[in-house]
Amino acid sequence: MWTYLNGEFIPKEEVRVSPFDRGFLFGDSVYEVIPSYNNKLFLFDEHLERLRNSLSITKIPIPESLEDLHPLAMELLKKNQFLNQAIYIQITRGVDPERSHVSANTTVPTLFMSSTELEINPYRENPHKKGLKIKLEEDIRWKRCDVKATTLLPNIIPFHREEESDSDEILFHDGQKINEGSKSNVFFVFEDLIVTPPKEQNILLGVTRNYFLKRLSEEGFNVTEKEVRIKDLNKADEIWVTSSTKEIQPVHQVDNMVLPGKELEEYYWHKALKVLEEDLKSNC
Ligand code: PDD
Repeated sequence: MWTYLNGEFIPKEEVRVSPFDRGFLFGDSVYEVIPSYNNKLFLFDEHLERLRNSLSITKIPIPESLEDLHPLAMELLKKNQFLNQAIYIQITRGVDPERSHVSANTTVPTLFMSSTELEINPYRENPHKKGLKIKLEEDIRWKRCDVKATTLLPNIIPFHREEESDSDEILFHDGQKINEGSKSNVFFVFEDLIVTPPKEQNILLGVTRNYFLKRLSEEGFNVTEKEVRIKDLNKADEIWVTSSTKEIQPVHQVDNMVLPGKELEEYYWHKALKVLEEDLKSNC
């Protein structure tokens, strides 16, 4: 497997970053995960725009190689050979001469990329597979979740508690208000209305979320951005999560509440997945 670090392609076993890198010392870094199907990057421009936004908000300088991100990512895909891959891109504020909260103005950012094989969404191969089991958790994250920062302790800790080790996803709520998953955005279906929390809430504006909002409304579905409260959960006919690596996946259970069942063809998540599959055919 190949990686890319600051201008060079380096085998995974040989790549090294200094422990004085601010990404290591402070979590002073941002990232993106971009899927590729059939050796073509999916929604690359949207990911690049969000990466630029994360850099701008954190004031991490733009690395020179960002201009060439598309050809560099394509080269990495070629070297790592899998047909479908997930590219991980991390940019840190760089390596300082010594640990200091204030970075030296000569410090240049670190740009690291790796890729892994993208697992096919299991609900494409078997749409009858039981949905995900998710757990509610009070959202204790910082207030700028629109920045795709690598500092993810609140997103990671719940998965390491023994009682939650069998949860597929954690659903963060701020009091009554549901925000998003620890690694995905969330959608709800109430009768024929598809709802996802609005961008004014403390969420990452998922590229997959935005894609489904746009495409489902173009396809004539009734879809909107609206607050959903914990007390609304038992009225939901469906809940889905979306992300660049999971695409769209249905939820079966939230804490002890099991969602109602229906025929596969009636599920909106299944119709949404069909829209994506059609788009991927024309993308590839
Ligand atoms: N996570 N919300 C959070 C907190 C996320 O970490 C992610 C993605 C999303 C979905 O965003 P997108 O559709 O742009 O992938 C929402 C990535 C995949 C990860 O951390 O691996």
